[in-house]
Amino acid sequence: SGLSHLPGVPAVRDFLLEQLGIPAAVAPHTSFAAEFISDSTRAQLRGTGLSVPSFDSYADRLWQYWRAHLDPHRGQPAVSSEPLNGRIVLITGASSGIGLATAHAVARRGATVLMVARGKDDLADAADSVRAEGGVAYDYPCDITDADGVETLVQTILTEHGHVDYLVNNAGRSIRRSVLNSTDRMHDFERTMAVNYFGAVRLILALLPSMRARRFGHVVNISSIAVQTKVPRFAAYVASKSALDNFSEIAAVENKDAGITFTSVRMPLVRTPMIAPTDLYKSLPVPDPDQAAAIVVRALEDRPHRIDTPVGTFAQAVDLLMPSVKRTILHQGFRIFGESTAAQGKKPATKQQAGETGRTPLTVLAPVLMPLMSMPGPAARVARVVPGLQW
Ligand SMILES: NC(=O)c1ccc[n+]([C@@H]2O[C@H](COP(=O)([O-])OP(=O)(O)OC[C@H]3O[C@@H](n4cnc5c(N)ncnc54)[C@H](OP(=O)(O)O)[C@@H]3O)[C@@H](O)[C@H]2O)c1
Repeated sequence: SGLSHLPGVPAVRDFLLEQLGIPAAVAPHTSFAAEFISDSTRAQLRGTGLSVPSFDSYADRLWQYWRAHLDPHRGQPAVSSEPLNGRIVLITGASSGIGLATAHAVARRGATVLMVARGKDDLADAADSVRAEGGVAYDYPCDITDADGVETLVQTILTEHGHVDYLVNNAGRSIRRSVLNSTDRMHDFERTMAVNYFGAVRLILALLPSMRARRFGHVVNISSIAVQTKVPRFAAYVASKSALDNFSEIAAVENKDAGITFTSVRMPLVRTPMIAPTDLYKSLPVPDPDQAAAIVVRALEDRPHRIDTPVGTFAQAVDLLMPSVKRTILHQGFRIFGESTAAQGKKPATKQQAGETGRTPLTVLAPVLMPLMSMPGPAARVARVVPGLQW
């Protein structure tokens, strides 16, 4: 109040409050000392054997109620103790791995799950498995790289279910191949972008108007720890995941006032069908899809801006504070871990070796840990020491 007498200060204060969505008239009341009086209640209860509970014991319930109902135009933000109960959750890539485990997890919490993937039969089986547990699930076969297909998908879903509360952009494609071995493979970069970036953006754009109209919506993007470690041989994959992260940062800022939020989950390595045939991972203590789904559920319920792992954050800090050290470490790792036979242009033995979905690049810590290893199979040993990393 002292500063408000200075010229220009009230105008700046009102401008800032307006940006925060707070009416200027409320400002003087922010330091208002509230006093809750229960004298007349106590008087009325006298002799009944009932007593007034302490305010601390029920203040939280009052707060939750006000938070949910104070803005009558907001589509009931998730503040109850069961935030997913009764919600409609659309999950792409829901026929397998993290997406399927997430579908089960949210259905168990009372949500209606709309499951999307290309393979019709696998998707139908996946939805059946959710229903067999008592969940409510619908399968919608769709290739998210197909613009017309996504348009039809969203129209169908909005007609059949009215709206979508939560979108989980989980369908993804990973390619492991060095840039040098990709000089004649522009399609590697195009197809990772097509699924990981354009497919996800397409769904966000299609659902945004209806989410804004209801003033509620939350988008969870299943990104990767690799956007923080920036591991070699994953240029196509990391670029596509980073693109979605950056798109969502901006979309989140623009749509904040409409109750739309975004979470980027920088997921570590997870034991899914995607990595199953890769020998290196077989003996590793890698999280399973249910553990990954628990992270996605946290992203849905708490709606944080990001979910990172300590290793990812550490890699980012090294990048910020010692960028040349990190580059040197990664380069050493790039040389140690080598290219798969298929990525070198030789005939692949499996889908993973073809560089389609496998993950075996270096972690940022690997060369630091290398000297500690004296036995053969250094990559496997490093992987064991640093579990859960995106390789
Ligand atoms: N596993 C890991 O270690 C790990 C680590 C970090 C991040 N991630 C990310 O987590 C997400 C899920 O990975 P995951 O390991 O669970 O993979 P996954 O088991 O291979 O499952 C991939 C899912 O995506 C669907 N899909 C692929 N392309 C699609 C398209 N064009 N349109 C619609 N659906 C499509 C697949 O079904 P159809 O083939 O039938 O379409 C499948 O349901 C991905 O975004 C991945 O990048 C995984």
